[in-house]
Amino acid sequence: MNKINPEIGFTSDVIKDPNRFIGRSDLITKCIKAINTPLNLIAIYGKRGVGKSSLARQIQQIALGDYTLLKKAGLVHLTPKKPRRYLTVYYTCDSMILDTKDLLSRLLNDQNNEDGLLRLVPDDGKELVEFGRVTEIEGGTDLKLVKWGIKGIDSSKYAKVVENDLVQTFRNFVSAIVTHQVQNKMKRDGLLIILDEFDVIQNKDNIGSLIKSLSSDTVKFAICGIGNDLMDLVHDHNSVERLLEEGALKVGKMQPYESKSIINRAEELFENKITFDGTVVEAISSKSQGYPYLVQLLGKECVNKSNQYAKDFINDAIFSEVLNDIKNGIAFPTLESQYQRAIGESEGRKTLLFLLASQPEGNAIFTDEMGKIALKEVRKDAADWEVDYIDQLLPRLIDKRFGPVLVKSEERQGLYEFVNPVFRVYCQLKEL
Ligand SMILES: Nc1ncnc2c1ncn2[C@@H]1O[C@H](COP(=O)(O)OP(=O)(O)OP(=O)(O)O)[C@@H](O)[C@H]1O
Ligand SMILES: [Mg+2]
Repeated sequence: MNKINPEIGFTSDVIKDPNRFIGRSDLITKCIKAINTPLNLIAIYGKRGVGKSSLARQIQQIALGDYTLLKKAGLVHLTPKKPRRYLTVYYTCDSMILDTKDLLSRLLNDQNNEDGLLRLVPDDGKELVEFGRVTEIEGGTDLKLVKWGIKGIDSSKYAKVVENDLVQTFRNFVSAIVTHQVQNKMKRDGLLIILDEFDVIQNKDNIGSLIKSLSSDTVKFAICGIGNDLMDLVHDHNSVERLLEEGALKVGKMQPYESKSIINRAEELFENKITFDGTVVEAISSKSQGYPYLVQLLGKECVNKSNQYAKDFINDAIFSEVLNDIKNGIAFPTLESQYQRAIGESEGRKTLLFLLASQPEGNAIFTDEMGKIALKEVRKDAADWEVDYIDQLLPRLIDKRFGPVLVKSEERQGLYEFVNPVFRVYCQLKEL
């Protein structure tokens, strides 16, 4: 039997291809509305690793006029008669961006030839070609830069740079893009600027009012990042409240049927050359606890295992070997190294981490006063497991140098929660 490449069906990457994007019909419905509303702001937020960037990439695809996603989702009836179509910019922020000025300066200088803003600024001699962002496009193309203008990567007479005034320069660039590329060249309705990992921008003062002033019926922003609510993304959210009426998209955990669909879709992508036993599908969905990343990882590992045994049917026996590999720390190296760093070779801390991870989600883990763990359960369990000195084991788990694994909850004061919910589930899978 030929080996199957697990990447054909599963991926730990952000999902760009609508054929691989599963579920989220309520969010997709909202996205379509938001894209087809002339003036608004789209904000995608949710916990780490739940699928925010993947949703943002789908928004980009729909904004180009490609409604493929709706077919698989059985939502074709939602396709607007005259969909608004955009050219798009996609920028991933990082924590070196200090404030709004930094952000604008980054956008003005980003040379990415498929996603950057600069690629679209008209310039003598600059060459742009239409391209499809995914392999099987259905009418949604964007512009890709194949050659910089004669002046190199600088702007040109079409879009004036105003010394020491980033906001005005940005406005000039954007308005040149809208006139020349969006309207004249491509006959589109607007420019969509998607900003991912927006939460990591250090100082977000006035960012809402800046976005508001830059938004219009031809320029739309979509921001995406980790947060429990909109406040985490835009501090001065009052200024954009009205813009957000239809565009606030909270990405939560997946429903079990959606997790299972990821595996069923993978089987389709593998053209049924490899299939999963129903009980394994069920088990993966339940072990993943609604985190698509874990579904993808577990699915991938099952395929690797079955390749090893030259099997094309993944049954409980194969799946339990995968679970064993997780326990032994050889299945998911990235999560495992995070895990090792957290426990720091302490058996006691290993047990404690498991107990903490196994508390029902959203429950208090312990209070701010380190010595006093609020949750009596943990203390009781810990005693059962003969973990002494909890108070000495805990500090490493909230120390930045070792993760941190736990941070103060933003939802409830004085309480701690896992920084990364996927890691929390991993700690459970490690068992004891
Ligand atoms: N709708 C979906 N269908 C199938 N898989 C998905 C879906 N959404 C996300 N995934 C998978 O989940 C994982 C995380 O997705 P993604 O990177 O989009 O999440 P995120 O919320 O942006 O994460 P982070 O907080 O780290 O930025 C990836 O492996 C991706 O393939
Ligand atoms: Mg992301």
